[in-house]
Amino acid sequence: MIDPATVSRILDTADIVDVVSDFVSLKKRGANWIGLCPFHNDRRPSFYVSRAKGICKCFSCGQGGSAVNFVMLHEQMTYVEALRYLAKKYHIEIQERELTDEEQQARTEREAMLVLNEWACQFFERQLWETTEGQEIGLSYFRHRGFTDATIRKFRLGYSPDNRNTLYNEAIKQGYNRELLLKLGLCKDDNHGGGFDFYRGRVMFPIFNVAGSVIAFGGRTLKKDEKAKYFNSPDSIIYNKSSSTMYGLFQAKRAIARDNKCFIVEGYADVISMHQAGFENVIASSGTALTEGHIHLLHRFTQNVTELFDGDEAGIKAAMRGIDMLLKAGMNIKVLLLPAGEDPDSYAQSHSSSEVEQYIKEHESDFIDFKTTILLKDATSDPIKRAQAVTDVVKSISVIPDPITRSIYAKECATRFEIQEEVLLREIQKNIRKSRDEEFNKAQREQRRAQDEIESSDTTVNVPAPEKVKSITDKQTIKQEQDIIKYLVKYGMCYFCDTAPDENGQQHPLTVAEYVRQELSFDQIEFSVPAFTSIYNIVNETTEKFYSDYSAIEAKFTQKANEDYKQRLAQLDPIGLNAAEIEKKEKDILSDVNKMLIQELNNYRMSYLEKLLCSHPDDDVRNVSYNLVSEKNQLSKIYTQNGPIATDFDRLLTIIPKAIYNLKNAIVEKKISHLMEQINSNKDSSLELMKQLQQLYQIRKELSGYIGDRVVTP
Ligand code: CTP
Ligand code: MN
Repeated sequence: MIDPATVSRILDTADIVDVVSDFVSLKKRGANWIGLCPFHNDRRPSFYVSRAKGICKCFSCGQGGSAVNFVMLHEQMTYVEALRYLAKKYHIEIQERELTDEEQQARTEREAMLVLNEWACQFFERQLWETTEGQEIGLSYFRHRGFTDATIRKFRLGYSPDNRNTLYNEAIKQGYNRELLLKLGLCKDDNHGGGFDFYRGRVMFPIFNVAGSVIAFGGRTLKKDEKAKYFNSPDSIIYNKSSSTMYGLFQAKRAIARDNKCFIVEGYADVISMHQAGFENVIASSGTALTEGHIHLLHRFTQNVTELFDGDEAGIKAAMRGIDMLLKAGMNIKVLLLPAGEDPDSYAQSHSSSEVEQYIKEHESDFIDFKTTILLKDATSDPIKRAQAVTDVVKSISVIPDPITRSIYAKECATRFEIQEEVLLREIQKNIRKSRDEEFNKAQREQRRAQDEIESSDTTVNVPAPEKVKSITDKQTIKQEQDIIKYLVKYGMCYFCDTAPDENGQQHPLTVAEYVRQELSFDQIEFSVPAFTSIYNIVNETTEKFYSDYSAIEAKFTQKANEDYKQRLAQLDPIGLNAAEIEKKEKDILSDVNKMLIQELNNYRMSYLEKLLCSHPDDDVRNVSYNLVSEKNQLSKIYTQNGPIATDFDRLLTIIPKAIYNLKNAIVEKKISHLMEQINSNKDSSLELMKQLQQLYQIRKELSGYIGDRVVTP
């Protein structure tokens, strides 16, 4: 659906640091960037991003990949969706053809649902701004609530007309799929093959994922007598109420990262009014209780959270519920209750921004303060209530993962309740031990399960292996194949050596890939893992294109180097230098410029296949390539703070032939062991088999002799 030229343009343009930064707040560390891993519950930053390699990777959970991979994983998108996302981000126009029926079907449901939701969002906006009904009912309602037009547009609020099927008919007319309308909850089945609109006569709040796609809607009724104030989209493959998003996160994420703090409120209106009042780091859990999924999402942007709730019973309850969960995730949590009868929406609407700010400053309290105040309300002198309150607060302190924070709070709590600190600390330790035991037992159970899984599975490598991998020799062969493929992905287009002189005495340069191909095809060796075969074929098919790309780049870099050289010569200040000194300086500049040129060209060769393969449309090719180039510690090893250190690149002449030898050797071993099995089970043809075995032994012996001297004589 996307033409190849556009694909490579997208891949070339996408900058991994930039792409990841939209979701994870990153800090520079040496040549890399680091942040909290978005793929697991990361407490210390273990997510590395290397701009030079165009790859990101979590050293704790192992997730990551190229920019496309990252977007696929993070946004749960398909390859094509991720490309579209990147294209949009970098304003690259995608030339789309009219889709054939087959393509239309192949287009994933997810993608289609997002497209339909975006269309519906625009439909509701049009209804709000452009129809009389929308203006008179919806728009006037929003304005009446104090939302400015800019705010209404920013949150893309809309209106759903009070008719049976305005949206349904329009959508069907435009060719959208009926099933999807039903799945998204935009329409309901009328049981006669048609449908009717779900949100009739409601104002619409679109809900965005972190990347800004519309994944759901909330529709508020404007009638007094409706039993449900809000209708919300059902969960679907694009929307999970308790983990996909939090309301306002898309609009708030930059402010949250910037202020390193966020406010959690309860409702849509609260978020919007706070934004309008200038507090942009505000989001809502919208109707559901705060979940671990929400916190996990939030944790990537900040660790500092303030619960901002109504001062009523329900607000207090909600705040209480959230506290332990946030503490457990290592968040620094504060609570801020508004005066009775106010919610953030009404408060922000009826006070100036500086008044709101003032109120926050004066009333934000830590969770101990909050809990004690609430728990001891009207009962400061009741010893039983006091004891219960202490137990409650101590329980909260016990879940805090960081020991220093924990002890600070323990001290605080001791002062507040006038209790000896040691008593509290003992109690806390007891709680910790208890939950540790529980966690330990749970972990053990899980480990046992994982162990069983590993033992019952056959392969040792992290690649999709062929169906029957039985013996140790099979596994060894796969391991050696993997090594070769790894070197191909990483160094395939690097210069390896020159060919032997041809009849005219001419020598030609060979790439690593060409050398490997010569060696393997000479012995008719094929890979046993299908993904390896695919990669191997792609590498070989790409060589020609590489040479033409490379000569263009070489010309460009060389010209740049020449200009650089001239410019630096011109800047050379000859005053006070004698001729010999000047000559020496000129030589230094020349060697400097040359060194840089060589480095640039080498980098180009090294990243050529890696980029291509790690962003390849074939899932196996892409995943296997990525796994091979991003083995544990790879990034940090090669790019240390003091610049690159010696790598395999410097030893290609040794490691490549050795890898080939190892593979050949493994294959021979495999054949020998198969033959032995046959000989043991089949007495009749033993003689013939013994002969074959002798041959294999001979080959094995020869191979071991080769390794020393075959290095550069292809
Ligand atoms: N909510 C919901 N379904 C309901 C009621 C509430 O999903 N029947 C969710 C909505 O996300 C709502 C939030 O819970 O925003 C908080 O509820 P409430 O305070 O009643 O709504 P407000 O957003 O304050 O709505 P309004 O001010 O317009 O009455
Ligand atoms: Mn409200």
